[in-house]
Amino acid sequence: MKELFNDYVQSLETYIMIQIKMDTARLAPELTAKGRAPISLAMGAPVEKPPQLVTDKIIEYAQTDGMHTYTLVKGENYLLESIAKNMKKRTGVDFDVKSEICALIGSKEGIANLIRALINPKSNMDDRDIVLIPDPGYASYKEMVKVSGGRSYGIPLTPENNYMPDLDEVMKNLEKDGLDKNKVKALVINYPNNPLGAICTKEYLQKAVEFCRKHKILLISDAAYIDLTFEGAPKAHSVFEIEGAKDTAVEFFSFSKPYSMTGWRIGWVCGNPEAVGILGKLKSTIDTGIYKPIQKAASDILNSQEGDEYIAEANRRFERKQKIVVDGFKALGWPMDKINPPKATFYLWLPIPPKYKTAKEFTDDVLQTSGVVLVPGSGFGNNGEGWFRMSIVASEDQMKEVVSRLKEDGFRFE
Ligand SMILES: Cc1ncc(COP(=O)(O)O)c(C=O)c1O
Repeated sequence: MKELFNDYVQSLETYIMIQIKMDTARLAPELTAKGRAPISLAMGAPVEKPPQLVTDKIIEYAQTDGMHTYTLVKGENYLLESIAKNMKKRTGVDFDVKSEICALIGSKEGIANLIRALINPKSNMDDRDIVLIPDPGYASYKEMVKVSGGRSYGIPLTPENNYMPDLDEVMKNLEKDGLDKNKVKALVINYPNNPLGAICTKEYLQKAVEFCRKHKILLISDAAYIDLTFEGAPKAHSVFEIEGAKDTAVEFFSFSKPYSMTGWRIGWVCGNPEAVGILGKLKSTIDTGIYKPIQKAASDILNSQEGDEYIAEANRRFERKQKIVVDGFKALGWPMDKINPPKATFYLWLPIPPKYKTAKEFTDDVLQTSGVVLVPGSGFGNNGEGWFRMSIVASEDQMKEVVSRLKEDGFRFE
């Protein structure tokens, strides 16, 4: 049966989070028996309940007549209007609800479908269209490109380049590596970044826009974490704060992270009308929109005081949890003074102790010994080797428990 499926699908790796979930489930009975029931710090999914307003509205709208039907693929008008208002507030830019915004079943679906719409699938690696992606970066980008029959090229994000690499340099390196720059179709950027938590400057966004204009490629800005910044953090900018960015860019937003609505699957893309239009057309052959009560509730929370307060409180909570972990790891010998914990997202990106050869070796040891579920940095790209990611999404008590388990079980940075 397997051979019936195309080469691109067959080359997919099991999504790292699913692999980790399976490993954890297999070990759970044994870990629980020794008092180390798994604490998951793997998925980027906040555990807190979504805003009460959203839950109440979904219940209310689910009981309203006409809410059960198919919906408009690009989103119902009330949601698009609410998104346009939100974008205007963020950027000062007007977005046309008919042509420049498309609702999504979560931003992941939208990014994957847009990449699929860009690439002409080719089986020969040398003929493939190229998408530039951050490395380390969200693990799905690479697989999205691969399953579309394209080729990803990692842009190294390092402390030395302050996580804002020189893009002209990237193009030169790509050519040095024997790739054809004319095959590049898009640049994906993601700030605040998963897994690093890094924020970029507005000047860097300006450079990214100019780079994409110069090379006539699409700028795909993934802003899933744009609202997750701590007090005193530099502003996380939308690409549309850059004059004229619509001629080369689209930007993806999610309700998952700021409102803890991961399972309700809703987000949006906005920007270049041709790109948004093509994505909408492709989606119309694949899905049939988002359940109306979710769209309604999402449009109610988006520009509301309750929504803004919810996000502010969530960010304060992530900051408190980060402090617990940062202090805890410092006490275990991690060089936290050199690490500069991020002021955005709910991720912490730390080096593995030098005695381990690979990140996977370390995260496997921590899981098997202490029941703490981490993600090896290598899952986020070649530049992630030697690091691991921790999602600071469990309760404060669980974060304290993580630190005390690691201490009891003898984990130290040495
Ligand atoms: C960088 C980034 N983009 C997009 C997504 C997808 O989010 P969703 O599909 O829930 O909107 C995630 C989820 O972890 C992410 O980390």
